[in-house]
Amino acid sequence: MNDDIERILYSQEDIAKAAKRLGQQITTDYKDKVPVVISVLSGAVFITTDVLRQMDVYTQLAFIDVSSYNGGTKSSGEVRLVTDITQNVADRDVLIIEDIVDTGRTLKFIIDLLKQRHAKSVRVCTLLDKPTGRVLEVKADYVGFKVPDEFVVGYGLDYKGEYRNLPYVGVLKPKIYLDK
Ligand code: XMP
Ligand code: MG
Repeated sequence: MNDDIERILYSQEDIAKAAKRLGQQITTDYKDKVPVVISVLSGAVFITTDVLRQMDVYTQLAFIDVSSYNGGTKSSGEVRLVTDITQNVADRDVLIIEDIVDTGRTLKFIIDLLKQRHAKSVRVCTLLDKPTGRVLEVKADYVGFKVPDEFVVGYGLDYKGEYRNLPYVGVLKPKIYLDK
């Protein structure tokens, strides 16, 4: 699996440091709140557990599963709700945790859903932000790293469901898209 990676962008140590920084920022901002943390399955699970453990804040944890990529390297353009949260978010502060914000479609879909349900506030924490990929205007409030316009995998990010368990974020060798 490691042989399929062209280069490592962010090591496990880099990510640990980023998670600590994000957790500290969130702790400051949510000191007097009890946010519902919504982790976006499956990619955000890894960074969610890191950031949550760096937050000295009372929280409730929820998971949402939405799909737009169909396992490939390009967004299909259409976002679908696969598994909904069970928590009531009306009048609640919500913190979404994502693995990457690329076109912004996934995030926009989730933010709109939470607003329809009358969340009091919605903020976004993401491990990676790829601003060059943006199609819809959405902003992440807490960003681990800004990534270049390349398809990245690892630390939750997948290609065809694989590579999520790489302990770092790396660029996939282009030949993998062609061969696999
Ligand atoms: P959008 O385009 O909706 O993307 O902002 C958000 C979701 O798409 C996946 N995604 C990627 N996954 N490498 C990946 O492994 C990438 O470069 C990439 N870009 C987008 C990801 O699941 C994210 O939640
Ligand atoms: Mg995702």
